[in-house]
Amino acid sequence: VQYRRLGRTELQVSALGLGSGGRSRLGQTDGSGQAEIDAIVERALALGVNVIDTAPAYARSEELLGGALAGVDRGSYVLCTKFNPVVDEVVQPIGALRASLETSLSRLRADQVDVLYLHGVHPDWLDAVTERFLPELEQARSDGLVKFIGITESFQYDYEHQTLRKAIPLGAFDVVMVGHNLLSPSPADHVFPMAADGDVGVVIMCAVRGVLLDPERVRAVVREWKDEGLLPTASVPDEDPLGSVLQQYANDVTSAAYRFAADHSAVGTVLTGTGNVGHLEKNAAAIAEGPLPHDIVEKLYQVFGPVSRSAAY
Ligand SMILES: NC(=O)c1ccc[n+]([C@@H]2O[C@H](COP(=O)([O-])OP(=O)(O)OC[C@H]3O[C@@H](n4cnc5c(N)ncnc54)[C@H](OP(=O)(O)O)[C@@H]3O)[C@@H](O)[C@H]2O)c1
Repeated sequence: VQYRRLGRTELQVSALGLGSGGRSRLGQTDGSGQAEIDAIVERALALGVNVIDTAPAYARSEELLGGALAGVDRGSYVLCTKFNPVVDEVVQPIGALRASLETSLSRLRADQVDVLYLHGVHPDWLDAVTERFLPELEQARSDGLVKFIGITESFQYDYEHQTLRKAIPLGAFDVVMVGHNLLSPSPADHVFPMAADGDVGVVIMCAVRGVLLDPERVRAVVREWKDEGLLPTASVPDEDPLGSVLQQYANDVTSAAYRFAADHSAVGTVLTGTGNVGHLEKNAAAIAEGPLPHDIVEKLYQVFGPVSRSAAY
């Protein structure tokens, strides 16, 4: 696995990181428990994957990761969790971040996390959330409970990346997590240049999600975007929209998708939200192959870059 600098954090992160949310939640969705999660974490670390991403919202992920990482040298991996600042359309009260962080640390059996993100902040809430919780984040940092401060967007709704476009210039966030995939590559226009300017670390989520696992869902998304006038009718064929662009790489869309997501100089790590050891190994091998051919990458940006929607299904 290749390592990259995560912006001004100066952390050296593996180009592939292990996510514990999304559909899979480390396989918990399909019944995985401690033994299976021990196995996936052990394999990830053996492959050189050194980023572990979690959140209180990801079922029992924090607690299970705490078990799997017990006894592993804490300096050998980068541990990231989150705080959900808005619940049921209400900004959480002062003190909620600290309480959530302390619970996370206890579940993770850790004294400190490398990154604590504000989780899934919708653009409408950004001002209220930063006003209330940036001071708490800074306090947690000065108390040694977190090393770096981050924010993640709500990719599905915020397809123009308004949250991160407003948050990065604030200068407070060391790391941002953005949705980016070969059907929704607009961060290359809206987020990566800004992050590079501010030397902010970039973590990619939703490189595959559900949609890229299923050709019928890809067809449905493309049909919908054409019906809405977001995608020119002649841009890609209805029957096999990705085949015409990815060519031989369309035989293995997941591998192509992780390679595409990692292929930007601003990107530190691409999370893979898997609970399957075989998938993890395959995704690590895919990223190690490096970028897709230049003409294919160009075509993906040309066709899907202008679409103002997120393939986050
Ligand atoms: N707003 C936020 O903060 C936010 C939102 C979304 C995600 N995230 C973070 O980002 C991480 C990644 O996002 P994501 O979970 O949506 O992940 P993803 O990596 O885009 O997609 C994961 C899905 O793809 C499957 N998969 C992975 N590799 C595969 C392969 N080689 N072949 C077939 N299927 C494969 C997984 O199932 P298997 O388990 O079967 O492999 C899972 O269903 C999350 O886990 C979470 O940590 C953060």
